[in-house]
Order: sequence, then structure tokens, then C-alpha cells
Amino acid sequence: MKYVVGIDLGTSAVKVLLVNQLGEVVKEVSKEYPLLHEKSGYSEQEPEVWVTQTIAGLTEVLNGFSDSPEVIEGISFSGQMHGLVLLDENCKVLRNAILWNDTRTTEECQEIYDIVGKEKLLEITKNPALEGFTLPKILWVKKNEPEIFARVRTFVLPKDYLRYRLSGELHMDFSDAAGTLLLNINEKKWSKEILKLLDIPEDICPALVNSHERVGKIIPGIAEATGLSPLTSIIAGGADNACGAIGSGILKEGMTLCSIGTSGVVLSYETAGDKDFDGKVHYFNHGAPDSYYTMGVTLAAGYSLSWFKNVFANGETFEDLVQGVDSVPVGANGLMFTPYVAGERTPYADANIRGSFIGMDTSHERRDFVRAVMEGITFSLNESIAIFRRKGKSIDTVVSTGGGTKNDTWLQMQADVFNARIIKLSSEQGPGMGAAMLAAYGCGWYASLEECAEEFLHTEKEFLPNGKNTEKYEDLFSTYLEIYKNTKELNRKLVKYRK
Ligand code: XUL
Repeated sequence: MKYVVGIDLGTSAVKVLLVNQLGEVVKEVSKEYPLLHEKSGYSEQEPEVWVTQTIAGLTEVLNGFSDSPEVIEGISFSGQMHGLVLLDENCKVLRNAILWNDTRTTEECQEIYDIVGKEKLLEITKNPALEGFTLPKILWVKKNEPEIFARVRTFVLPKDYLRYRLSGELHMDFSDAAGTLLLNINEKKWSKEILKLLDIPEDICPALVNSHERVGKIIPGIAEATGLSPLTSIIAGGADNACGAIGSGILKEGMTLCSIGTSGVVLSYETAGDKDFDGKVHYFNHGAPDSYYTMGVTLAAGYSLSWFKNVFANGETFEDLVQGVDSVPVGANGLMFTPYVAGERTPYADANIRGSFIGMDTSHERRDFVRAVMEGITFSLNESIAIFRRKGKSIDTVVSTGGGTKNDTWLQMQADVFNARIIKLSSEQGPGMGAAMLAAYGCGWYASLEECAEEFLHTEKEFLPNGKNTEKYEDLFSTYLEIYKNTKELNRKLVKYRK
């Protein structure tokens, strides 16, 4: 039997998956590391902990592996996107990494619009300037830490740094480069124009590769420390959302992913990189060759439900909380919720907006509230689907992953609200599985990622839209859309009273 390793370098932990030729996860190890919040809005991490924890994870995975290590043929990576890692001429880290959820760069986003122009930025990168993306972070360091910026030889993203430490080779793949705001995503080249306008030296941009490309072999010292063979191939890997899509089989037109974790993501496969979504959804290069994906993000998806549980049902399990929601009719007896408890990203990118319950009355019970929260999260995700459809995309099949698959009522709700067939996979591993699939494809096991997905991924259950419910949800969704417009100004007035 042959094996590959998928490494998912997340925000709070690194997950290492050992996957066999049949796509079965035979061992899984997770190692945590801290987030550093030196000031409000700051979110940093020390790159060295990614390396030490990954080596610890690999060592644990190999511990007790009874076959010869040569049968583990390749390793690939999935990584938290957008985080800035700055390296000097000896490839030494110059400062802590500034992560995707760091929001210190509002001024730099404005500066990008002022200098490059909103339209040009959209035309080249297909995305708006958001605080989380990499370019505003580069500008922040340039302005606030000029002595560090002067020593920068290369910038990379988190999993690129980890890959460098395991292989000695420095690259960035297209799917992660797309989240920097420096890539011309259609031409798949660094944008000389943006770099020049913002006075960033072109040569700090690393060489670009495809996600399935073999970039080298594992460094002998790391092979020895972990128990891997020094012949193990290192395959580039991709952004966590791209790998999550690969690991869920989002590999052809019409295939869409709905992932409900802390945040919620709706992501849809795209063949072309030159469409225009007006920057309302993210538009990135895929980890699958010569393809793209569009993506909308609900900042507080599962987080809205866990917030509700912590405040109103503390100590209960998720199963206790959702008990009885299936007996509440569509529309939660006239109660509606917007999940803006932590601000919103798609389609509003509004840090000040907050959630609402609309329509509370004395007849409502807790289960009505729980159903309203689940419906509100699903409506918010449907806003991204509605944008895709308005731009002519056909969304017929949605693979659902994450917390949203824990409950059949919620899966049926997704089918009814999205008006699409919902697929629940039998073994769902998300981005780590996508990384393992890139390793398998990169090692030449399959002629394509689609072929790999046929072997590795299996459907457990399907949910089809119920026409009557879909009709009611269409009506309710149009009411839901009114809430943002009507509460935006009210929330702005309340900002000064917040903690
Ligand atoms: C995507 C984004 C997050 C991170 C999380 O734009 O910011 O999904 O990739 O790791």
C-alpha cells in the first residue's frame, strides 16, 4: 500500500493526515499553537511554532507505522491564507507573521484605493482591498517598521514558509498568491503595475508554482527527525479554501461548497479567471490546474449558533440545543435572525453591522429562536449563492461540510433555501484531505484531481429541495435582505455604546 501526507496549517493548530491509496485516513494528529494579540485588532503568530508543531505531528504520525517509510511517497500542504511572513537575505524570519484575521490595516486599504484605484485593483486582482489580505500588511510594515522593511528579501505566506523549512525550496502557489492582492489572477503573474504604483520591489515576490507541482524532496535532517524517507516528495499545496474545495470534490463547473465552521464559506468552481463579480465575492485561482473559484464569507456562521448556545443554553450540548427545531415550521413562526454578531464580510464588508432578531412575540419558544438562528445563517450564505446566480452561474449541487452537516434538519434547510441538491460526504476531512489529494496527484498516482476524487471521496446522503418550502424561503429571503439596509444606520449609532 502507498501513502501520502496532507498537512493543514490552520490558524489555531496544524493537522497532519496520513492517507492511503484508497483515500482512507489511517492516522490523524493535531498540534495546537497560540495566537498573539498584542493590541486590539492585532493577530500574529511566530512562524517557528508552525515548524516545530508540524515536525512533532509528523513524528507522531510516523510513530508505530509498521511499513517501510518509502511507501509514504509525498507530502503536500493546505494553509491559512493571506498571512504575511517576511524573510531576510538568509531566509530568516524578520518579524512575527501578521495573520488573515488581523484588522490593523484599514488606512492601508484606503491608500491602495487612493493610489491604485478601486477599478484597476478589481480589474487586475478581482478582489477588493480588505484588511485581512496580504498587500495592506506589506504597506503597514513599510510605513510602521521601515528598518524591518529595508531588510526584506522575500515575502511568503504561512504554508510557503513551512514548505521552505521542510524542503529548502521557496515558492508560492497560485491559489495562495491570489489572496495577496498582488497577483494578476487571470494572467497568473505578479502585477508589475500594482507593485510599481505602491513602490514595492518586484523581487521580493517569490517564484510561482502550481499547487500539484513537485518542488523538491524533504530535507534529510527533517526526514531523520520524523521517521520519513529522505526520498519523500514535497508537493507545493494550496490555500485552505482551495484545498477544502479539492477535498470536497469541487472540481467542475456547477459544483459548489458550503462549509459551516466558525465562519461560513460558499465557494463555487469557475473555469475562467476573467469574469466580473464586481468584487462582491472573492475570486481566486483554484488549487486544481487552470481553474478558479468564487467565494463568499459569512463571518459568524457556526459562531452565531455557538454564541446563542453560550448565552442562552450554557452547559447544554449542540444536540440538546437543536432538539425540536424540526417541529418548528419554515420561517420560525415569524421570527427572523441576521447573523452579524461579529460584523459581516459578504456581501457587505461592514465591521459595524450587528445581528438582529426581528418579529419576537410572546408565543415564541427557545426552539423558534434556534430555528431562526439556523435560518439566518443559511440566508446569509444564500446571499453569496444569489450573487453567483445573478452573474449567470448555475448552482445545482452543493457539497455541505462542517458543523452544518451535524443535523439533518439543517441539511434539508440548506437544500430548501439554496434550491439545490445537497450532498453530505461519508468521510469529511476538509483542507487536509485536499492537501493529501494534491500530494497523490503530484506524485503521479492519478491523471487528474477528478480521478483522485472519484477514488477518495464518497457520498453518504443527499437532500433534495422540497418545492413548497423553497417557495416560502424565497419569500422569507426577500424580507431577510431588507434587514441589513434598515439596521445599518441604527447599528452605526450604537457603536459608541459597545464594549
Ligand atoms: C479567506 C480567509 C480565511 C482564511 C482562514 O479569505 O481569510 O478563510 O483562509 O484560514
